[in-house]
Amino acid sequence: MFGRVKPLDAILATAEKKSLHRSLGAFQLTMLGIGAVIGTGIFVLTAEAAQKAGPGMMVSFMIAGFVCAVAALCYAEMAAMVPVSGSAYTYSYAVMGELIAWMVGWALILEYAVAAGAVSVGWSGYVVGLIENALSIDIPDTLVRGPYDGGMVNLPAMLIAGLVTWLLVIGTKESATVNAVLVAIKVSALTIFVILAVPVMNMANFEPFSPLGFGGIGAAAASIFFAYVGFDAVSTAAEETKNPQRNMPIGLIGSLGICTVFYLLVAAGVIGSVGAQPVMGAGGEVLEPGSRELAAQCSAIADQAVVCSKEALAWTLREIGWPQIGNLIGLAAGLALPSVILMMMFGQTRIFFVMSRDGLLPATFSKIHPKYNTPSTITIITGAAVALFAAFFPVGLLANISNSGTLFAFAAVSIAVLVIRRTDPGRHRPFRTPAIWITSPLALLGCLYLFYKLDPKSQMLFVIWAVVGLLVYFGYSRSRSHVGRGLVEVHERDADAPPQPVPPIED
Ligand code: ALA
Repeated sequence: MFGRVKPLDAILATAEKKSLHRSLGAFQLTMLGIGAVIGTGIFVLTAEAAQKAGPGMMVSFMIAGFVCAVAALCYAEMAAMVPVSGSAYTYSYAVMGELIAWMVGWALILEYAVAAGAVSVGWSGYVVGLIENALSIDIPDTLVRGPYDGGMVNLPAMLIAGLVTWLLVIGTKESATVNAVLVAIKVSALTIFVILAVPVMNMANFEPFSPLGFGGIGAAAASIFFAYVGFDAVSTAAEETKNPQRNMPIGLIGSLGICTVFYLLVAAGVIGSVGAQPVMGAGGEVLEPGSRELAAQCSAIADQAVVCSKEALAWTLREIGWPQIGNLIGLAAGLALPSVILMMMFGQTRIFFVMSRDGLLPATFSKIHPKYNTPSTITIITGAAVALFAAFFPVGLLANISNSGTLFAFAAVSIAVLVIRRTDPGRHRPFRTPAIWITSPLALLGCLYLFYKLDPKSQMLFVIWAVVGLLVYFGYSRSRSHVGRGLVEVHERDADAPPQPVPPIED
């Protein structure tokens, strides 16, 4: 089962041969990381976390941040050692074989594409709030919310997914500079939020600290984990990184550290200034975020709680007497969240690209547009799927489904890094995960714990997705795999040359 391993040296040689222009340094990578990480998680899901954990969401942020930190340390060793595209998928292929790699790649579809859907819904919440508040226009919920959120279809979310798809199709090379500007906007928005919210904090708002117990804190951690997702997108840029050995770990861990500090400050600001107790049902029952019941209860109290808001940070600022700045935060989110969608969809198309290059997905997936030089077919397919998710599903559910895939990929990397220490101890490791025999098992256990704390719907969807993945693998990919057929990969650049046979690989 683990026999079809893609030799690491072949992977590294491939990267050399492809010789993508190496232009990214540590600073740009950190920017890339922050660009991909800060998004719907902190801007929107803070409200969902409050509904699950109340003020205890501070602890949830710490738990999720901790799991990501230990996973990032494992990622960093792999990313520095195997600085090629494909992230967790490629590492797993080299270490644990094709089947696991396939499952990881399949799970990464959930991570990236579904996350892009979630961020599109988050964007819609802020932009609709901004239009309604700044221009005093009332937009009917039917058109701007999905069916679970008291509406019918989320048109703005579909619109932004379509727009980002178009940007990706026409080429993304110039996006590094744009990304830097948008990161600056996001970081400024969060900084202003903290500066305004922290001084009006009332410590009484932190009581009761965990109204739904530790179970609630764990469940909120499993959701808020989404706020950290994306740092691994840094590793997908490894082939374009200067001195990846040094810069990858800095980019991964640096972006994560900066985001964690912001998240804790923002969460404290929300709780302390406007309170963050969950809204209960009429009979005192616990209500699920993103459920029709919560939507109904929120309308009964005229949305007067942060957990009812689709734009938690802007709502908080309006409540504490800064309506115009609240609108500015909405504007910042409206401008900056599309870059997160872009990162996620970019990551997705690159994963598809690499899997297709390996023969596991149809060759059309890696077809390059003659004019724009981008994998346009797969970008458009991805974009259509993202737009559909965004149109009909609530942000929290999409985030949780995305988390299930991410947790699987993180768990695989945590195992891979340990396995390869055993199987290939002599390989040059520019970055070594500190205390790996503690760090890696902690990352694995953390992922298992967070997966266990996800809502049953997301867990079930993950299992169904995995089963479909196995069917596709055994029905299609296994017999077409280039490694399985003993071929080296065919690259676009040398696609007209026939594939070269290599010594057969034991199966
Ligand atoms: N971490 C990213 C966000 O919160 C995906 O939007």
